[in-house]
Amino acid sequence: MGKKIKKAVFPVAGLGTRFLPATKANPKEMLPVVDKPLIQYAAEEAVSAGIDVLIFVNGRNKRSIPDHFDKAYELESELEARNKEKLLAIARDVLPPRVSCIYIRQSEALGLGHAVLCAKPVVGKDPFTVILADDLIDSGDQPSCTRQMVDVYEKNHCSVIGVQNVSREEVSSYGIVDGEQITDKLWSVNALVEKPSIEESPSTIAIVGRYILEASIFDQLETTERGAGGEIQLTDAIARQLESGKVMAYEFSGKRFDCGNKLGYLQANVEYALKHEEVRDQFKTYLHSLIS
Ligand code: G1P
Repeated sequence: MGKKIKKAVFPVAGLGTRFLPATKANPKEMLPVVDKPLIQYAAEEAVSAGIDVLIFVNGRNKRSIPDHFDKAYELESELEARNKEKLLAIARDVLPPRVSCIYIRQSEALGLGHAVLCAKPVVGKDPFTVILADDLIDSGDQPSCTRQMVDVYEKNHCSVIGVQNVSREEVSSYGIVDGEQITDKLWSVNALVEKPSIEESPSTIAIVGRYILEASIFDQLETTERGAGGEIQLTDAIARQLESGKVMAYEFSGKRFDCGNKLGYLQANVEYALKHEEVRDQFKTYLHSLIS
């Protein structure tokens, strides 16, 4: 019997420079899509996959994420006094009671691989998931992306990375997978390369911000040298995991919004608003009025 995935790591220490000045005093993961911060979508995705320990690797703007997942006494008593029950429930039920949150400080911005390594003392020897909250994934009627990946893990018992096909022009923005296709959604990975040029890229199968990793990744990360962009890259450490075991790539069902850049973030807001019970009708009318 393989181990269950019970822990999720959220690297949230990036500088978010593409969203300055919004990210001057706040992490980009706190940017809202309609009315919910990106980090809450990510946390809900983890919870939907049966995960109950959320590990946040924080950077310098460290306060707002713990505050968001904490009890807000003042706000709750105000809402209670005003009999705003619906709002009270929204403020209170950010996470189910079974879930606990752990915060770790990444004191140096040495890259995604380094951020994940910071979680080692808390993750221990169990397999775990890594979720990059700025990759927002709407899985519609399907189970969440992380749920789908946990299912793949439970059948294969090896590291699994979430992938999507991208255009050739986009390969230099991603980690790229070279592999043998096993089914229409699953690859056995042969090699991985972080942000290759178009000419050097082995394929157009790109890593998006979802990973299930065997704990042996920490051994690899400890000895991974700085790679692309002078940073310790998670992709490079996973590539080294291939030397001693199998790694699978899984093309999840769902639409991914790259909320790490302005256009993707705006697209997410439009599409989520068009599904949002409270605003969708008025918003649709408004969009029609803009183009007619
Ligand atoms: C990171 C990873 C990259 C992956 C991407 C997905 O890059 O290093 O392999 O394809 O996330 O969003 P970043 O976007 O942080 O530069």
